[in-house]
Amino acid sequence: MILINPEIEQYSTSFSLKLPSEATRIHEITTELHTSAHLMSSILQGQYLAFMSRMLNPEFVLEIGTFTGFSTLCLAEGLKLQGELHTIELREKDANDAVTNFSFSPKNKLIHLHLGNAKEIIPTLDLTWDLVFIDADKTGYLEYYELVLPRLRKGGIIIADNVLFHGKVIDEKAKDKNTVAINNFNQHVCNDPRTEQLIVPVRDGLMMIKKKDYEV
Ligand SMILES: C[S@@+](CC[C@H](N)C(=O)[O-])C[C@H]1O[C@@H](n2cnc3c(N)ncnc32)[C@H](O)[C@@H]1O
Repeated sequence: MILINPEIEQYSTSFSLKLPSEATRIHEITTELHTSAHLMSSILQGQYLAFMSRMLNPEFVLEIGTFTGFSTLCLAEGLKLQGELHTIELREKDANDAVTNFSFSPKNKLIHLHLGNAKEIIPTLDLTWDLVFIDADKTGYLEYYELVLPRLRKGGIIIADNVLFHGKVIDEKAKDKNTVAINNFNQHVCNDPRTEQLIVPVRDGLMMIKKKDYEV
């Protein structure tokens, strides 16, 4: 199911902030050469991530699911000068490509790529996150959320990708493990008194999740 008319998406991209050339370069190369390029965020989604990052001006950012690094450079846009962006990727080839791609960016020194399983790496990162982007295996979303929430500062933001899962979340007959996992995740977050949330139907659906900054 196409959630946004492609011409509307193109129009929105044209009238939105410009991404750094190092990010658009990754998008072009990955689109041209990677057999799984569809895994990458769209340009408009990248613009959205960059805008959020500039708005929040975070010190510590965590990304779960680097792929070739396009969304990483978008998330790095608003990073404080002394900030750190940690990004986790399971597949060695993609992680190596991302490291090469980051080397062209002026933000390179602020980016720390961890190769391996996010479920094992997240507990080893002793930082308080301002902004987290969840964009890895869909069956892991609930675990990632529960792992990062205690380490998210009050008022901090989690952005979860693919929460509409190609529109399949509204198809009662869709019983595949990814759709079921995403529906369970959405339900879990919606019922969680520690956070408040908003689904933005950009590309495949982004859920904005804010950790409440008052006691519940
Ligand atoms: C949808 S892609 C990420 C796209 C990227 N954020 C972007 O917008 O360009 C998901 C990535 O998560 C990685 N991944 C899947 N399971 C993982 C895990 N358990 N730990 C770390 N990375 C994982 C995959 O190898 C893949 O590169």
